[in-house]
Amino acid sequence: MAGAPSLVLFGAGRMGAALARGWLKAKPKRVITVIEPNPSADVSAWAEAGKIRLNAPPAPAAILVLAVKPQAFSGIAEAASAFVGPKTLVVSIMAGVRIAQISRRLGTARVVRAMPNTPGAIGQGITVFSAAPGLAAADLETTRGLLEPLGDVHGPVDEQMMSAVTALSGSGPAYLFLLAETMAEAGESEGLPRELAQRLARRTVEGAAALMAMSPDSPESLRRAVTSPGGTTQAALDILMDTGGMPRLLRDALRAAATRDRQLSKEAD
Ligand SMILES: NC(=O)c1ccc[n+]([C@@H]2O[C@H](COP(=O)([O-])OP(=O)(O)OC[C@H]3O[C@@H](n4cnc5c(N)ncnc54)[C@H](OP(=O)(O)O)[C@@H]3O)[C@@H](O)[C@H]2O)c1
Repeated sequence: MAGAPSLVLFGAGRMGAALARGWLKAKPKRVITVIEPNPSADVSAWAEAGKIRLNAPPAPAAILVLAVKPQAFSGIAEAASAFVGPKTLVVSIMAGVRIAQISRRLGTARVVRAMPNTPGAIGQGITVFSAAPGLAAADLETTRGLLEPLGDVHGPVDEQMMSAVTALSGSGPAYLFLLAETMAEAGESEGLPRELAQRLARRTVEGAAALMAMSPDSPESLRRAVTSPGGTTQAALDILMDTGGMPRLLRDALRAAATRDRQLSKEAD
């Protein structure tokens, strides 16, 4: 594994490690350097097997991927800039940190900002990215190739959209997990044993998502297909779709997430 590091990953937590796992499977093989103070068992095993270089000394990389928490960015910016040379493409997956802020801290204009989500850990995610003005088409292609291990890739989009993207697909998996949690609790309240309620809720969310994934129909038509007028589903949807119900709650929830993303941007200044 001699030679200049072609790909450097800063931060191998959940998202960073998911990316690295995908890159390790991809061809042609890249020389991957991971900078991570507390490597997980997987990351340590990759290092021991010679698949990655762990905490190697800095040298300009072809690609630098930033996957630390946004709050950690100011603390690592100086160390990360030691991996940036005139030819380095920087790809950040940090929530809320703007392209201009990354550019300024790392002293390069070649910056991409991406927002993945946790299903990316099993290759079922969706990542949206936005690029610094004037970034070469080849850099956009490299970015797509880098993010593909996580699932679908969409971009480049206007950076203004990234707060809303974060609120929808970045944070979105948590909304679905909450749905499974609260459906189980509600089932228990209706008299089901806890274990059965949890199993039914979980399998229903999993099965409905799989059905949606396989069907060409919109979520709305799939919903209509299980709602007979005057039936049980209709009785529940009358509550969920009421003025104060799910549409309103989700609008408020996404607004709060987008607002938090904008605050994180200010904190990164
Ligand atoms: N999780 C999501 O759903 C999601 C979705 C979209 C985007 N993101 C973004 O992805 C980024 C990573 O999120 P995550 O969930 O993967 O977080 P995470 O699991 O906490 O990973 C961050 C990693 O960076 C490491 N780190 C901290 N200081 C470092 C340093 N000085 N040098 C190198 N590595 C350092 C952390 O190590 P320690 O554990 O020792 O602190 C940790 O392993 C965040 O910016 C987040 O906004 C996350």
